[in-house]
Amino acid sequence: MKKFRIGVIGAGSIARHAHIPGYAAASNCVLTAIADPDAGCLQKVAEQGWRFAGVYSDYREMLKKEKLDVVSVCAPNVFHKAMAVAALEKGCDLLLEKPVALTMADAEAIRSSARRKRRRIMVAFSHRFNELNVAARKAVRAGRIGKLYMLRVRFAHTGPWPGWASTGWFYNPKLAGGGAMLDMAIHAFDLVQWFAGPVTAMQAKVATLRKPIQVDDNAVALLEFGPKCLGYVEAGWTSPAGYCGVELMGDNGAIFVDYSQNKTIMVSGVRTPDGKSRQRTAVLQEGGPASWKAQMGHFTRQLGRRGPFRVGIEDGISALRVALAAYQSSRTGRRVVLRGG
Ligand SMILES: NC(=O)c1ccc[n+]([C@@H]2O[C@H](COP(=O)([O-])OP(=O)(O)OC[C@H]3O[C@@H](n4cnc5c(N)ncnc54)[C@H](O)[C@@H]3O)[C@@H](O)[C@H]2O)c1
Repeated sequence: MKKFRIGVIGAGSIARHAHIPGYAAASNCVLTAIADPDAGCLQKVAEQGWRFAGVYSDYREMLKKEKLDVVSVCAPNVFHKAMAVAALEKGCDLLLEKPVALTMADAEAIRSSARRKRRRIMVAFSHRFNELNVAARKAVRAGRIGKLYMLRVRFAHTGPWPGWASTGWFYNPKLAGGGAMLDMAIHAFDLVQWFAGPVTAMQAKVATLRKPIQVDDNAVALLEFGPKCLGYVEAGWTSPAGYCGVELMGDNGAIFVDYSQNKTIMVSGVRTPDGKSRQRTAVLQEGGPASWKAQMGHFTRQLGRRGPFRVGIEDGISALRVALAAYQSSRTGRRVVLRGG
């Protein structure tokens, strides 16, 4: 069996919670090299028992010295483009964290480099691997709630710092490129397009409502999917409680992906005016493996099979386009048309 030599750029939280354990659990992957300028983050990796033969403070040196098959890009957003292109140019396949880049030009440069070097990219839109969402999509595609006409997503928590990230970079506009909209709503933009197809137009508002930071800590977006389907997304970094999940409304029912209850429920059928309810409630999915574990399982399996990844660079670019349109709409107060909508 081919063993894929894995390099990891950035030894912070997402590397330690998702990428590294995922590779360590895969029999076809070898932890080969890791790069991070922060010795404390590298130390934490070692303390968790993961051994990389090569340990570097500079990822460029790692790419120069090591022969790698696959690279995970897990550093702050502003570095994604340079790191992705450098790894692709060295002939590596990529697992690229979101957002894929901070501008459309940079995202397209990553795609061009992958095409030229014939390399593959999976984008780490982890919610796609949540079985609650997988079950919902299967039901939608099977027509179980009829045609979709409305989607609603709320993804909110108390924020990435303190408590999650290694430092406060998420709140530095130069390193993060945006706030809750770019960090959290971008997952929602990917998901809703997976469910309902391309966003054709949007309006949005980002705001810094509570935290003393220079990026948005709350964001809302109103989405159009052609003339016959709407959606809205709320993302937040100041939410100690509240609903988290996805709701899908169709002509013949609705699906509720409830992250807090860890359940996907479908109510199908139409209530008749005579009061005789013909609706049925079914649990489509309860629990399931953690999204990051499922994401890494998929990625490492597909490496071996040379099969397609569930989330490619086109999806990364498409979600970024919507997120950037959201900031544009918020700045100008105007609706932004994305694809002839
Ligand atoms: N898909 C998801 O569910 C998910 C969740 C959290 C974070 N993320 C993404 O993962 C990325 C990293 O976020 P995080 O939460 O792990 O942050 P983090 O602060 O915990 O980790 C970032 C790491 O990158 C390192 N780093 C900084 N500059 C570097 C450089 N030039 N070269 C190599 N390493 C460098 C830092 O020292 C740190 O160890 C971000 O793009 C974020 O959006 C994705």
